[in-house]
Amino acid sequence: MSAQTPTRRTTITDIAARKGAEPVVCLTCYSAPMAQFLDPHVDLLLVGDSLGMVVYGLDTTLGVTLDMMINHGAATMRGSSKACVIVDMPFGSYQESREQAFRNAARVMAETGCSGIKVEGGAELADTIAFLTQRGIPVMGHVGLMPQSVHAAGGFRTHGRSEAEASKVLNDARAVSEAGAFSIVLEGTVEPLAQRIAAEVPTVIIGIGASPACDGQVLVTEDVLGLFTDFKPKFVKRYAELSVQVGDVARAYADDVRARRFPGPEHCFGVKKS
Ligand code: KIV
Repeated sequence: MSAQTPTRRTTITDIAARKGAEPVVCLTCYSAPMAQFLDPHVDLLLVGDSLGMVVYGLDTTLGVTLDMMINHGAATMRGSSKACVIVDMPFGSYQESREQAFRNAARVMAETGCSGIKVEGGAELADTIAFLTQRGIPVMGHVGLMPQSVHAAGGFRTHGRSEAEASKVLNDARAVSEAGAFSIVLEGTVEPLAQRIAAEVPTVIIGIGASPACDGQVLVTEDVLGLFTDFKPKFVKRYAELSVQVGDVARAYADDVRARRFPGPEHCFGVKKS
């Protein structure tokens, strides 16, 4: 018998208990190998529908399907053992009715083994969120800038600059909290408003382009690594420029192949050592 305590996966309850306590560390993840690298360091792995833009090269997240989310969610689960894994519900998979939302969310939970799902929407989605949470589906909300509503909102832009918009974002966060969400992503929202929401809303608020006062932070992993270079929003901190290294490695490999330096004898089978 091992003397080591087996690692326990972080639960929704653990995350919900972090309100006003140690910040929740969250990164996006779409694959098993990346999950293995990130898992020891984060509390939450979010299988975001940002994968549509980051992995599939789409212009927005609107073309992402339920099957894509399930495949990447299951891969992330296979690569992790410690972090709480949440899977995004893609555009069109939950907005039609609360029954549609339940059916698709239940499929995501059953087929990936994740701990909960994320939906974008404010007061208008509160009824659906309550329906899901009352039936055993933990929900992470997402208010402020909601990429699935990019066209309706007039593009990717910061929210809460006008008084009317600020009170809408605050009311959205309150409604999602009251509906039973265990945490809420607050995206692209002016800092003073984000600070106020983190202080006034009793649910864990996870910021992205929001405020250091939030109860946690999330970023897209490929942004952090410098692997997604199409654009860099102001709120992203790049901790590495791996795209440069990838290019250097590809060039070195190509030079070796063209010069017949690769494969060497050490990479071949049945070659006698001299
Ligand atoms: O889709 C996503 O990755 C997200 C995060 C950036 C919050 O929603």
